[in-house]
Amino acid sequence: MDKFVIEGPTPLIGTIPISGSKNAALPLMAAALLGNTPTRLSLIPRLQDIYTFNNVIAETGTDVHFNGVENSLIIDPAGLNNTYAPYDLVRKMRASFYMLGALIGHSGEAKVSLPGGCAWGPRPVDLHLQGFEKMGIQIKHDQGYVYASMSGEFVDGGEFTLEPSSVGATINLILGAVKRARHFVIKNAAKEPDVVLLCRMLQKMGADIEGIGTGTLTIRKVDNLRGIEFSNDPDRIETGTYMIAAALHPRSELTLTGCKPDDLGNFPQTFNKLGVDIEIGDSTIFIRSAEKINPVSIKTKTYPGFPTDLQAQWATLMTQANGISTVTDTVYFDRFSYVPELNRLGANLRVDKNKVTIHGKTPLKGAAVMSTDLRASVSLVMAGLVAEGTSEILRVYHLDRGYEKLEDKLNRVGASIKRESQ
Ligand code: EPZ
Repeated sequence: MDKFVIEGPTPLIGTIPISGSKNAALPLMAAALLGNTPTRLSLIPRLQDIYTFNNVIAETGTDVHFNGVENSLIIDPAGLNNTYAPYDLVRKMRASFYMLGALIGHSGEAKVSLPGGCAWGPRPVDLHLQGFEKMGIQIKHDQGYVYASMSGEFVDGGEFTLEPSSVGATINLILGAVKRARHFVIKNAAKEPDVVLLCRMLQKMGADIEGIGTGTLTIRKVDNLRGIEFSNDPDRIETGTYMIAAALHPRSELTLTGCKPDDLGNFPQTFNKLGVDIEIGDSTIFIRSAEKINPVSIKTKTYPGFPTDLQAQWATLMTQANGISTVTDTVYFDRFSYVPELNRLGANLRVDKNKVTIHGKTPLKGAAVMSTDLRASVSLVMAGLVAEGTSEILRVYHLDRGYEKLEDKLNRVGASIKRESQ
């Protein structure tokens, strides 16, 4: 297992290119299984989660070819002859559960392992399964696997309301419905850009989807979908992560390139309250930090609200703000495993249920800390960038799942991060 050894504090000065979105790429890869011909996806990031999902898809007999130089992926479902997603792969990456919708769409049947839990909670899939049953798909459980089947080629469909609005359930139900449900309405559907991009790709393949970008999606089945060329979006969470990193040290000046600012929802408005300079272009974001940053309390929400995937990073930033702030997560109620680790670096955070209170400004001092999940890990790396002295971030494999070339991108703008084996 690798660790990061970080010398701080260092300002970040220069340019960081944003990579393709992990969370948007995964549903696009699943959708490629629905085409009658090969699909070529571009702007696919070189990340462990992508490689894991490539293996899950290849398990079905589908031909998957990833070109790491071009960041492109060709998926040819012609050889798909095995509607099975095994536990030893699905447990590595929860989004593999999208295979349920993709295999129902492609073959009308599926045997998919239930995903495991994750670092911060149970993360159920009950809404996925209830939605498929409402659609008319038969769902059975046996020894940790979900068995999906249909009595004919199509199902009547119906109407299903997501409560809460779930990104994964919205994606899975769309994948299953576009070729199988005569008329299926998803209410309180997730409106995240990842869902909108998936719908745009399916539309280009020939799917019939109404209400894209709204909370009500209406799907009418089509008999065939064609393989296409399609580009992934830049990663909005990576973009937000580096925006927050740019505000940490008073002398940082960062330009982010290859961004899609429109996907940030209300985040820029919240960011503006910090009191740092920010200029947003069509595909670039420039940030000049400030001597003092304002404490800004946030509450996570579904899109376009503050993303839960940025709350750990925001908490780290608030340790350097002048005053008290709070971070409340209304999407996941126990996503605070980074708090005791930040406190080891000298921060002063206290958790009460789904809210953490942060006393700033506290000088941070280097120490060894433990990564627990993807976004908690990057919040610790960011703390290491402003902590005095040497910080060691253990178990950085969590980072390799979701941040392409993280230490390379940060070292190019002045950070001092060394990857060492533990
Ligand atoms: C996606 O997870 C993202 N993962 C997560 O990012 C992100 O945090 C989350 O959406 C929320 O934005 C991917 O896109 C691969 P949900 P997902 O279903 O789809 C409850 C990261 O760091 N729920 O929208 O699993 C659930 O417990 C990852 O990149 C049910 O109750 O999230 C949660 O409270 C972490 N039953 C809420 O809905 C269900 O069947 C939102 O979860 C499904 C979800």
